[in-house]
Amino acid sequence: MCGIVGYIGPRDATPIVLNGLKRLEYRGYDSAGLAVLQNGSIAVRRDAGKLDRLIDLVGQSPISGAPGIGHTRWATHGAPSARNAHPHLGSTGRVVVVHNGIVENFLELRDELTAEGVNFNSETDTETIVHLVEHYLATGLNLTEAARKTFLDIQGAHGIVLMSADEPDKIVCARLGNAGGVVVGLGEGENYIASDIPAILEHTRQVIFLESHQMAVVTREGARVESLEGKPVQAEVHSVSWDPVAAEKGEFRHFMQKEIHEQVRSLTDTLAGRVDFENGRIRLPELNLSPELAQRITKIFITACGTAAYAGMVGKYLIEKIARLPVELEIGSEFRYRDPIIDENTVVLAISQSGETADTLAAMEEGRRKGAVLWSIVNAIGSQAMRIADGYISMQTGPEIGVASTKAFTAPLVDLYMLAVLLAELRGVIDEQTRRNLVADLRFVPDLASRALNTEPIVEKVAWALKDVRDCLYLGRGINMPIAYEGALKLKEISYIHAEGYPAGEMKHGPIALIDRDMPVVCLAPRDPWYEKMISQIQQAKARGGTVVAVATEGDELVGGMADHIIPVPEAPWMLSPVVTVIPLQMLAYHIAAIRGLDVDQPRNLAKSVTVE
Ligand code: G6P
Repeated sequence: MCGIVGYIGPRDATPIVLNGLKRLEYRGYDSAGLAVLQNGSIAVRRDAGKLDRLIDLVGQSPISGAPGIGHTRWATHGAPSARNAHPHLGSTGRVVVVHNGIVENFLELRDELTAEGVNFNSETDTETIVHLVEHYLATGLNLTEAARKTFLDIQGAHGIVLMSADEPDKIVCARLGNAGGVVVGLGEGENYIASDIPAILEHTRQVIFLESHQMAVVTREGARVESLEGKPVQAEVHSVSWDPVAAEKGEFRHFMQKEIHEQVRSLTDTLAGRVDFENGRIRLPELNLSPELAQRITKIFITACGTAAYAGMVGKYLIEKIARLPVELEIGSEFRYRDPIIDENTVVLAISQSGETADTLAAMEEGRRKGAVLWSIVNAIGSQAMRIADGYISMQTGPEIGVASTKAFTAPLVDLYMLAVLLAELRGVIDEQTRRNLVADLRFVPDLASRALNTEPIVEKVAWALKDVRDCLYLGRGINMPIAYEGALKLKEISYIHAEGYPAGEMKHGPIALIDRDMPVVCLAPRDPWYEKMISQIQQAKARGGTVVAVATEGDELVGGMADHIIPVPEAPWMLSPVVTVIPLQMLAYHIAAIRGLDVDQPRNLAKSVTVE
């Protein structure tokens, strides 16, 4: 996960920023960088690789001064280079930025800036931010106003920190959407900025959490928080505990809630370095997928357990639809006892957050024994499922602590989509325009997730309405059918309410008998190819007196008129809609369990990683 640290005050920013980045080290990253104001100009050191490389670089070629900002990126993939590492300087060399997020409209912005004569030095979208700021500075605005205009111009969800050699008394930062936190730490005559509290915990316990659509001008003396429209905000100062575990939770009550909110950031990192938006291409180098291999594969078995298996179920839709390759989904504990038909042209693809789940590993071994090509999509770097695979995709979610998996569900959805596009290209089953369109759709994913997170107040109200139910039915069709399974799993895992996920079309063959006033039915009804069918399922449930909670596209008055509760999610390309529909269901389960006063992060009888059969 990307990390950001900033410092303004009388001391040298270099060690403060480097130490702060070090505190975030366990997250892992592929590049790191630092910028400080040194003798009136901005000095930058940055490099691909681990933070130690940056520390060595600064050791060989020291820089010192203040203010200063630094950045690390979590990723083990792609082509991380010094050139693409943050911080990014503008053309004048007087303004510098670090950033988490994806500038959705960066191609348009870059074209406009290029037409003005701006030269780009990296392949990143981040660079458009610093050039835009310079563009506005050139019109006579000061840094704060130039930054404000820039923040309003860029689309997507972001955390941004920038500074200018010409206004050395301030750092300007902003949070747009839910791309991870931007925390301002308050000291005495010095102040700090960070993406995560542990980075600055050794210096201060007094922090301000920026809300979405807020910016702050941080000086030595304090922080002025404003809305992007320029309205002053009376920001609450929180006192955080020294306890590193509590600090890691930040503004959230539980890890699960924090991890739900981290999805914008993890999805941004999932795309970083892998998606070439310009050429409409996907890069997954660790998968070791050659054109020859792509062409000879005749079948993919996806194998996994629990939440990961439901991600795999979505993957079946994606790979079959986009790459026209047959996919079977097999639960890890069943796979090896079924004598599956496998040869050297079969891929066994395991999905696992921990990479250590015994049943999933056993399924991989069965695949190996029968001569299959072994792939994995794994979160824990260096885990067994990563080590034994012929190729892998590493989830870019950072550590997941809550037992109920959330961010390690949405990341593989996007990984599987990218895999499907790559397979389709290498197998020659997709035309260039379709591929470009599919790739272009990916850039909206973080912002769509951010907007889905904005439904939390509505979801919380629904949670209060459902908190005492005994049973709950979740219905979905097509690509959202696995989301019904996952929504039900989340609810039973942490709230101990009996919940069942069902393919909506099957409701009439059994579960319909259960529907009455006391049995809420959660219906996934976004505008996807199964929308009309879902409408009739909702009508059927209503006709039996059921209470319907519908997850539907914003502004859908038809569903709004039928459902008892509606959770409006943003319109998404249908193959990516599971990312958007699952987020309210994660929050629904979370809030019901929290309202019931349960141990959300460590539910009874469950383990984060099940290493026995
Ligand atoms: C346990 C966890 C689930 C998880 C499953 C698979 O049951 O409680 O949240 O989905 O294991 O774990 P893995 O690490 O293989 O994704």
